[in-house]
Amino acid sequence: MTELTKVVMRLDGVAEAHRLDVYEANGGYKALRKVLGEMKPQEVIDEVKASGLRGKGGAGFPAGLKWSFVPQDHPGPKYLACNADEGEPGTFKDRWIIENNPHQMIEGCIICAYAVGLSHIYVYCRGEFYEGKRKIEQAAKEAYEKGYLGDNILGSGFSTHLTVHTGAGSYECGEETALLTSLEGGRGHPKIKPPFPASEGAWRKPTVINNVETLATVPAVISQGARWHAGMGTEKSKGIKMVCVSGHVERPGIYEVEFGVPISAIINDLAGGVWQGRQIKGYFPGGSSTPVLPAEKVDVPYDYESIAEAGSMLGSGALIVFDSETDIVRMAEVITRFYAWESCGKCTPCREGTRWMLQIYERILNGGGRMEDLELLLSICDNLEFKSFCPFGDAAVSVVRSTVSLYRDEYEEYIREHKVYRRRFTPVKH
Ligand SMILES: Cc1cc2nc3c(=O)[nH]c(=O)nc-3n(C[C@H](O)[C@H](O)[C@H](O)COP(=O)(O)O)c2cc1C
Repeated sequence: MTELTKVVMRLDGVAEAHRLDVYEANGGYKALRKVLGEMKPQEVIDEVKASGLRGKGGAGFPAGLKWSFVPQDHPGPKYLACNADEGEPGTFKDRWIIENNPHQMIEGCIICAYAVGLSHIYVYCRGEFYEGKRKIEQAAKEAYEKGYLGDNILGSGFSTHLTVHTGAGSYECGEETALLTSLEGGRGHPKIKPPFPASEGAWRKPTVINNVETLATVPAVISQGARWHAGMGTEKSKGIKMVCVSGHVERPGIYEVEFGVPISAIINDLAGGVWQGRQIKGYFPGGSSTPVLPAEKVDVPYDYESIAEAGSMLGSGALIVFDSETDIVRMAEVITRFYAWESCGKCTPCREGTRWMLQIYERILNGGGRMEDLELLLSICDNLEFKSFCPFGDAAVSVVRSTVSLYRDEYEEYIREHKVYRRRFTPVKH
């Protein structure tokens, strides 16, 4: 039976865990006291590096390494942007953290700020997360009152401040450079890289950008040590991950596991298996932006390298399962509609390409598809992937390319038989 390894979710089930007194009673802010009292900033960075902690917002970049890129001799100000924009379809873990354990994220932010010398923490919170925003603001207020935030934190001489900034519900604003543009008050469009945010970020000052779950893991790494963290998971994917399981399973939810467990174990042991006794047809291992994997690949170990080898990505940790009765073409169309809607419009391949793909899906689902539409879809994928301004374009083609390749017969059946999917289309607005 697959075990849960609760680290970020360790207070799951504890009443009122979002309150400072409850968090402290469960060991909260001990890691912050430890770094301020016993560790030099560089030692904190080294500890996080040694732990193998990787970013949990999608790319899996090593957190300590990212922190070490910030120039130490820069006169400042330097910033931390905590990415709480969580908009990937299938992902709902950061929301759980900010609503249920906000102090653990804040403690991680302050430790990062101390290690890198950051004078201000911005929590960029998804606009729709009303409750989450309220919880972070309340937690930050408590942290200020207790001296964990503000000037001269716990008498250490170190100062940092925290502001919660809400977005307006745009998926693109989770992309780090678009997040920064939005934070600065601009329209949420991405910026060209390099320069990378660690050297030139918000207001052209060095900025660390980390995901909520990444930062919420930091206090545990400090309290329990790099070796403890590095001892979990696989050789290259160390530690634990919150996996959001959704779709056609009996018990959708968030399950925190060590990297390396078989995906089938997450689906069957933890999420109760495919619903209604049906068979699995395939799954998205890391959210709607990751290529679909077929049922035969359900035993792949849940880690970055194994999933990449299988042809997809671990992404933000959103495991979406679909059963044998799923209409693949309709599913791909629903997701393509999301990307067409959410494209920020800055670059032509993404703005036009996502809408063209949607138009082709609408044609096929209305019974008017042509066999050449399949090659046309793939050709649009070629013109979008790695050719759009930011990785949004790559995200948008994943479902199209993978489902045309894995389930081509279902597309062909729609086209050959002029099958019509019975529902109303809502037009895309920009
Ligand atoms: C279109 C798009 C949307 C993204 N949305 C999010 C998001 O909602 N939350 C997040 O943490 N990272 C998101 N990312 C990844 C961020 O750009 C960035 O890599 C991440 O916040 C870095 O934090 P980490 O290293 O701790 O994972 C997104 C990337 C893209 C291309």
